[in-house]
Amino acid sequence: MSRTIVVLGATGEMGARVCRLIRRLAPTALLVGANRSGTGHAEFPIRKVDVADREGLAELLENADLVINAVGPYDYDPSPIIHAAISTHCHYADLAERLDFIEQVAALAEARAAAKAGVVLVPGCSTVPGLVAALAQRWKSDPGVAKLAVFLSMGSRNPVSRGLFAGMMDPIGRTGPGGRWFSRLVSHQTDDGRRLVFGSYPIAFSGSRLPVGSRSVPVRFHMGFDRGWINRGLVWAGRVRGRLGTRGAKWLAALLFPLAGLARPLGTERGVLSIVAEDGEGRERGRIEVVAASHGLDIPALPAAWLAQALVRDGWLAAPGLRGLHRVVSPEAAVAALVDAGYEVVFRPS
Ligand SMILES: NC(=O)c1ccc[n+]([C@@H]2O[C@H](COP(=O)([O-])OP(=O)(O)OC[C@H]3O[C@@H](n4cnc5c(N)ncnc54)[C@H](OP(=O)(O)O)[C@@H]3O)[C@@H](O)[C@H]2O)c1
Repeated sequence: MSRTIVVLGATGEMGARVCRLIRRLAPTALLVGANRSGTGHAEFPIRKVDVADREGLAELLENADLVINAVGPYDYDPSPIIHAAISTHCHYADLAERLDFIEQVAALAEARAAAKAGVVLVPGCSTVPGLVAALAQRWKSDPGVAKLAVFLSMGSRNPVSRGLFAGMMDPIGRTGPGGRWFSRLVSHQTDDGRRLVFGSYPIAFSGSRLPVGSRSVPVRFHMGFDRGWINRGLVWAGRVRGRLGTRGAKWLAALLFPLAGLARPLGTERGVLSIVAEDGEGRERGRIEVVAASHGLDIPALPAAWLAQALVRDGWLAAPGLRGLHRVVSPEAAVAALVDAGYEVVFRPS
């Protein structure tokens, strides 16, 4: 059966990757893109719509089966798109990494009775929080796992868009539960013996706890780049950003954005997602690592393409309602799909 998949923000860095991956994984899907201008890709239609335009969105989703919202940064009101998705009975996913956005989607799903309408909503369907939660289910039957530490190292040679950069910069220097985000660097050794440095960073799980099977365990999240001097620069940028309000922070991100382009030739494409399971005393109990020698920026776009693939192949995603990616994709299926996409996945139980 033919399925119609709409990608909002299809011309952005992430949206374009989502579209390319859907074409590879679900070639029979009818793909429709959308953005504010209504222009872009020649291979499939691009419709003009704004994420704030509820009627325009409802019209766009009228005959669609799944909408993937790749319009970032996720600092806007999600209600127009969620209302449109539920009223047209169209499944919904986004790539949000912000807890406030994900919680707003969750509240709207509840208020608008998404489950009754037969609609599946998967906010955060990207690396963080989605893929991290899906992979962490490997430990669901190990009661010895008391907490998790997640380290995401990104290759600075990868292309970066304004949306991606502004979203990444936003929390740096702000005060979180454990102090200021990214105020100092910690070192972490990846499975291949390399030592990388990272700064603390918020993670989109309520109360910084991640569901593992029927339990919920505390999780610490750290983010960094392949080059130590970029991470040191971010600590300094955070000191300035910490003194600024939201507008000032946007201004600072716009000012620093050209530097990201200048740093690219000095960086690598190598990215690593390292998820470490710890016992109650903080001793390592196991780890999962996803290593991207190249094309690491496809990883945040892959989970949304998996949903499109499942819908086309199986005609079904999950029981209707709000679902984390870990309720839609098993850890085994996620690992198989990552390996199939050309990434190395290390699983090391202790
Ligand atoms: N959770 C994770 O692990 C993770 C990882 C990577 C990225 N992300 C998220 O992905 C987001 C997207 O990044 P990106 O690099 O793809 O951004 P981008 O390149 O700036 O693209 C944004 C896209 O949205 C469209 N757009 C912008 N405002 C719009 C509006 N009001 N209505 C409709 N369309 C609009 C843009 O086209 P027009 O300007 O022409 O409208 C463009 O197609 C990031 O902000 C980040 O939050 C999450």
